[in-house]
Amino acid sequence: MEKIIVKSGAKLQGTIRAHGSKNSVLPLISASILASRNQVAISNVPTGLEDVATITQLLQALGIRVAVKDDVVTIQAEKFDSTEAPYELVCKMRASVTVLGPLLARKKYARVPLPGGCAIGSRPIDQHLKGLEALGAEFTIGHGYVEGFVPDQLRGNNVYLDIPSVGATQNILMAATLAKGVTNIVNAACEPEIQDLAHFLNQMGARIEGAGTPFITIEGVDFLRGTEYAVIPDRIEVGTYMIAAAITKGDVFIEHAKSKHLTSLIVKMREMGVTVLECENGIHVSGTEELKPVDIKTLPYPGFPTDLQSPMMVLQLAANGTSMATETVFEDRFMHVEEFRRMGANIKINGQTAMIEGGHSLSGTQVMATDLRAGAALVLAGLIADGVTEVSELRHIDRGYIDLVGQLKSLGAKIDRSNKETNPFFQKESLPQ
Ligand code: UD1
Repeated sequence: MEKIIVKSGAKLQGTIRAHGSKNSVLPLISASILASRNQVAISNVPTGLEDVATITQLLQALGIRVAVKDDVVTIQAEKFDSTEAPYELVCKMRASVTVLGPLLARKKYARVPLPGGCAIGSRPIDQHLKGLEALGAEFTIGHGYVEGFVPDQLRGNNVYLDIPSVGATQNILMAATLAKGVTNIVNAACEPEIQDLAHFLNQMGARIEGAGTPFITIEGVDFLRGTEYAVIPDRIEVGTYMIAAAITKGDVFIEHAKSKHLTSLIVKMREMGVTVLECENGIHVSGTEELKPVDIKTLPYPGFPTDLQSPMMVLQLAANGTSMATETVFEDRFMHVEEFRRMGANIKINGQTAMIEGGHSLSGTQVMATDLRAGAALVLAGLIADGVTEVSELRHIDRGYIDLVGQLKSLGAKIDRSNKETNPFFQKESLPQ
């Protein structure tokens, strides 16, 4: 079984470069289905990620031509026949459901497997369907699939989201670009990935205003055409490396990072005593000897991102004193706590809140990635735990981090990815006493 093996002791130092945003590029690729004229070329794509491979395979399964070269994905969707998303791809990745809105807008029909639950709790799509129904789509659900069709044509309408769901906002936004008339989405998600999608769609000829606020207005157009577009940097990847720098008391510059997308993390890190410099072309993080405890509560953007809750817990564990982490976005996103406890962490959970007793050393052991971000968090914990930490179930990490090991290694971390047989840290004499 492949593992990431980490030893503590290194203060991370140097410069790394942020990749394009995974969570942004997935809906951008889905949105390319809307281009009935010319081809789309998306650059700065993290093409090495499993999730990017999954969404490109999904478009190919629909009969759309997709080419990947270096960090550019080219999509030719002028003509395609299929309107059914294969189960094998949708079950791998929930974001596959973002093909629903574009397929209904382009083909007036779509059959998509229900994405189901996942390791961070049940994740319904009721808000997606409610919004698309308001635009005139009709749905039947059965045998694990949602089947949607548009009897007449999509028509603009007012859509109020009960919760500011990122995926629902994206699906409704995409469908509304080709609806007749004006759509208003109220209580829309405000995440930078929504703004990126709106910029992309507007470049394709859509008329969208207000993206990045809870009120988005979309005036439908007759067709969209291909364009060239560069994806924004990945704020969650950047946040993970910022935390890695801080827990090791290191000094790291992350090129191309956009600090305005990470305000909540930056403020919390500064409260803990970490120096964070917001530069024009990136973010500079310098650790401190004495980390102060801090409380966080995950919220929709611009609140603290749920995707950074587990990496942040490592920083809270490294602080001197008790910190709280309250998870309000997902119902069951503390799976990593059990793994941290195996490393000696003192964390108590009461409902949605974890109480983290920081300041005690962690001890390296074998742990398992339970989801994508939790996997990265365990690797970070290994950077400060006594002895050797082995993280398994790397398929989770590979969904969302390009060469996590290589990036950390380039900053001086003692880290490797290997099989047990080839792992140098496993040689008895090299294990710490
Ligand atoms: C996106 C991100 C994910 C991030 C999450 C929240 C992508 C590919 N993924 O996921 O990394 O953790 O935003 O920032 O961009 N909900 C409903 N009904 C719905 C839709 C959502 O009840 O119809 C609930 C979910 O169960 C969850 C909450 O709303 O509890 C937030 O989900 P949502 O914002 O939709 O997240 P995703 O778009 O799935």
